[in-house]
Amino acid sequence: MKAQHIVGLLFTIIILSVGCNGENKSRKNSAPVPVKSASTEKNDGKNEIVDATQSDGATPEQLAKAKEIIASVSKEEVSSINAKKLYKMNCGICHGFKGNMMINGAKDLTISKISLQESVAQVYFGKGLMTPFKGVLKDAEIVAVSTYVETLRK
Ligand code: HEC
Repeated sequence: MKAQHIVGLLFTIIILSVGCNGENKSRKNSAPVPVKSASTEKNDGKNEIVDATQSDGATPEQLAKAKEIIASVSKEEVSSINAKKLYKMNCGICHGFKGNMMINGAKDLTISKISLQESVAQVYFGKGLMTPFKGVLKDAEIVAVSTYVETLRK
């Protein structure tokens, strides 16, 4: 009888320890799930940080360069440019032909309030996901297209 009790106890211990191992394993298996969701949260956080830096305005150096560009181009040259066509070809892909499409996080140009100087700085140097147009468009074209986007405002 006593021996049977001991065997029974041993079995119970073995079964319990196997059960515990099983639980531990299942806990280990489930562990990566919260870690994964935590890393997704971290990614979200990173995106927010990127957005925060993108919302900063142009630097003083960029604004100074924009002022220089605006001063250097003649009104005649700017008005001789088909800015609407330039806009459709270079900007429409993200902003849409009416300025409010907001693809790739592009800002809605119909509610934009920034100055011509700030727009020129942004088009010339780019910002966040917006590509720089320095070397792509001539200075007069950058001024023309930046002037044109103001006509899209409500
Ligand atoms: C690749 C997509 C893309 C293209 C092409 C593009 N933009 Fe943008 N644009 C953006 C994004 C993204 C923003 C917002 C940038 C930020 O603040 O992070 C933006 C913002 C702007 C702003 C600032 C609006 C505000 O109120 O702050 C202006 C002005 C602007 N774009 C004009 C233009 C013009 C003009 C062109 C064409 C010469 C152009 N964009 C081409 C993506 C684009």
